[in-house]
Amino acid sequence: MNYVVLDALRNQKQASLRNQFAFDVLMGFSAKSKYLPSKYFYDARGSELFEQITDLEEYYPTRCEYEILERIGPEISAIFHDEAFDILELGAGDGRKTKLLLSYLLKADKEFSYMPIDISESAVAGLCGSLGETHPGLQTNGVVGDYFDSLRYVEHRSANRKLVLFLGSNIGNFDIPNALVFLRMIWKCLNDGDLLLLGFDLKKEIDVLLRAYNDTKGVTREFNLNMLDRINRELRGEFDSDRFAHYGLYNPARGAMESYLISMTNQEVYIGELEKTFNFDDHESIHLEFSYKYLLSDIERMAGDTGFRVLNIWRDSLNWFADALWQVRKEV
Ligand SMILES: C[S@@+](CC[C@H](N)C(=O)[O-])C[C@H]1O[C@@H](n2cnc3c(N)ncnc32)[C@H](O)[C@@H]1O
Repeated sequence: MNYVVLDALRNQKQASLRNQFAFDVLMGFSAKSKYLPSKYFYDARGSELFEQITDLEEYYPTRCEYEILERIGPEISAIFHDEAFDILELGAGDGRKTKLLLSYLLKADKEFSYMPIDISESAVAGLCGSLGETHPGLQTNGVVGDYFDSLRYVEHRSANRKLVLFLGSNIGNFDIPNALVFLRMIWKCLNDGDLLLLGFDLKKEIDVLLRAYNDTKGVTREFNLNMLDRINRELRGEFDSDRFAHYGLYNPARGAMESYLISMTNQEVYIGELEKTFNFDDHESIHLEFSYKYLLSDIERMAGDTGFRVLNIWRDSLNWFADALWQVRKEV
């Protein structure tokens, strides 16, 4: 097994993860406007459904970013000259796009290690396993854990310069203040000169966005409803997911897509682990996810506000997606 599970390292059992999940569900369902944190999308079934989403015709971000990553290998490679470096990827998922970059760097004879980090053990195990077959020469050390725990875990493990990847539109799941805090946390864990390659979904025609988050095959619907199924599986919940509808909309005031589940009827649902029944009114919503969209000027401003210098911003041919390479600046 070429990955570690941080909670196992901390000697916690699966039960404590369930406790955290139970606590977060209790908080979310006790709030005036109900919500569930989006990180709970990604159990094994959720990760599998997300992979299916990335193959959908309507879901453009993966294709757009793939096009960018296919192109930028030489420029990333040139930055490191003969220097050994470490690539850390936050929320690596199936790493399909990252493999393009890894392949290029291996072919260019670069000396580097790769550390995929993800909260989903099935994602890390799957990626480490497939890299063993497709990239046998690559030194891979996976970490199963939350972004912040994992960053703290890797902070002092190597003196090499770091390239941190945060691809897809993961950053868009944070609202702007939290995105700035998150980016500053990354800055804090890195050294002067380290690099961050960030994916940003750009603002575009609203119809394109609506189609991407409301696909005709209903995979996104299934992905969202899996959150209730997960509560049933792990917390002995009694949700009937047919009694909830998926709803994805664009909020122009926020500049973000928002995902909701909506109760189709007045209903009560018991969750065994919480020993509590929750009431859902007819048409009451549960907020699941934000997916913020950006302008190039937002990307420049966020870098400046969090201690980074923008080295480059690459866009796909449709101008729908951008990958930005930022460098850590620390005052001496
Ligand atoms: C939207 S997917 C993107 C995957 C991949 N980076 C891509 O671009 O296709 C988000 C990934 O981040 C992981 N993730 C979500 N929240 C996380 C958290 N708080 N800590 C660590 N990983 C997280 C999920 O398990 C999932 O694999």
